[in-house]
Amino acid sequence: MAAKQTLTITDNRTGKSYELPIEDGTIKAMDLRQIASGPGDFGLMTYDPAFMNTAACRSAITFIDGDKGILEYRGYPIEEIADKATFLEVAYLLNEGELPAAAQLERWERDIRFHTYVHTNIIKFLEGFRYDAHPMGMLLGVVGALSTFYPDAKDIHDPENRYIQRVRLLAKLPTIAAFCFRHSRGLPYEFPRNDLDYIGNFVNMTFSIGGKHEPNAVLQRALEILLILHADHEQNCSTSAVRAVGSSGVDPFSAVSAGIAALYGPLHGGANEAVLRMLDEIGDRSRIPAFIEKVKRGEGRLMGFGHRVYKSYDPRAKLIKQVAYDVFEQTGMNPMLEMAIELEQIALKDEYFISRKLYPNVDFYSGLIYQAMGYPTDYFTVLFAIGRLPGWLAQWEEMIKDHEQKIARPRQIYVGPARRQYVPIDGRR
Ligand code: CMC
Repeated sequence: MAAKQTLTITDNRTGKSYELPIEDGTIKAMDLRQIASGPGDFGLMTYDPAFMNTAACRSAITFIDGDKGILEYRGYPIEEIADKATFLEVAYLLNEGELPAAAQLERWERDIRFHTYVHTNIIKFLEGFRYDAHPMGMLLGVVGALSTFYPDAKDIHDPENRYIQRVRLLAKLPTIAAFCFRHSRGLPYEFPRNDLDYIGNFVNMTFSIGGKHEPNAVLQRALEILLILHADHEQNCSTSAVRAVGSSGVDPFSAVSAGIAALYGPLHGGANEAVLRMLDEIGDRSRIPAFIEKVKRGEGRLMGFGHRVYKSYDPRAKLIKQVAYDVFEQTGMNPMLEMAIELEQIALKDEYFISRKLYPNVDFYSGLIYQAMGYPTDYFTVLFAIGRLPGWLAQWEEMIKDHEQKIARPRQIYVGPARRQYVPIDGRR
């Protein structure tokens, strides 16, 4: 006889038992509400800070098995996708659910090419940023401001309209990102060249001087692989931000701007930047053992190590390591990379890291690669944002179509003062 797919809970306060259905390895938190200690009791809730054990949606986009180190986009293993697909194919796959047939890809690429230009007023407010403004601060501001240029984006219940806005975002983010890069360097803005492919156009907008840039196919493919590896990672902090903000019914530019803000944090997208700063701080291979000991004493973390979900080697980190070698073959070996390799080897053999299942994550090598390509440290997270955009958009689209979703609104356990009377200023001490 097949086991019953239910959970029986006995409330020892009342002696009552409840049988809750188990579906997909979960119980519904709302099913707990009926469990009350008596009249006037609101009913039982779950307490789950940081959503460590709460599924907030059903999703058909990305599958992760953190213990086995598996990552799949729409069922395709990341290793195959990174080896064979282009970034725009991956963006299509994530957003539309299937790999595009030739005609579908042609339309997708054409639509994105058509929308790469941004309104020239955007340049005016970019000019308002200080010369040393962090590019992520500029990016999130400008992407949020796009909603004012496209008021039609508010019509989020029309699928055709959503398609256009997703295309606009995919087309314009590299342009805005490149403008932020040029602003930081005091260089004139380089406009999109729609005869180039997605990556080629972005690289040209960042590095072209006097209208000239000599493309390097190996470096461009390496950048494309890095963006593919970042394209989606299910319900991470920034994606949850896009979903939560998007659940209010706001336009996708505002929702994606919230995702960029979340990505800016050092524990999320900012970690690749933190890895470089850490390597800088270590300074020399001879100081690695002392640094490891400091981390083990709890005085700082080994940045680029550890992951909330992966408790074995991050599959993206394995692929990135290979990309790092391809890139350094072009640009020359870098003492920072040598230090990173040694740091990794030492940490992987150390009981502290082994027992806590701390392995290199996607950010351990990505910063080194970006640096070798010529991007400054504070720009790395911008590249992560370009990579993650297709995932944010696919998750936003899925959220809008999901009839089980409502405006995101967690509960709390109130621990503040009990009701009390207002004290006029003279009576306060
Ligand atoms: N270095 C040293 N110790 C660590 C590290 C680390 N990088 N990460 C976790 N630990 C220790 C932590 O001190 C704790 O030890 P103990 O049990 O003795 O108190 C234990 O491992 C568990 O840590 P946790 O903070 O409960 O783990 P978490 O799942 O909440 O944190 C993490 C995940 C990614 C925030 C964390 O591993 C970390 O801060 N890593 C460094 C920052 C980093 O590389 N972030 C990039 C994440 S991947 C890119 C992305 O998806 O955004």
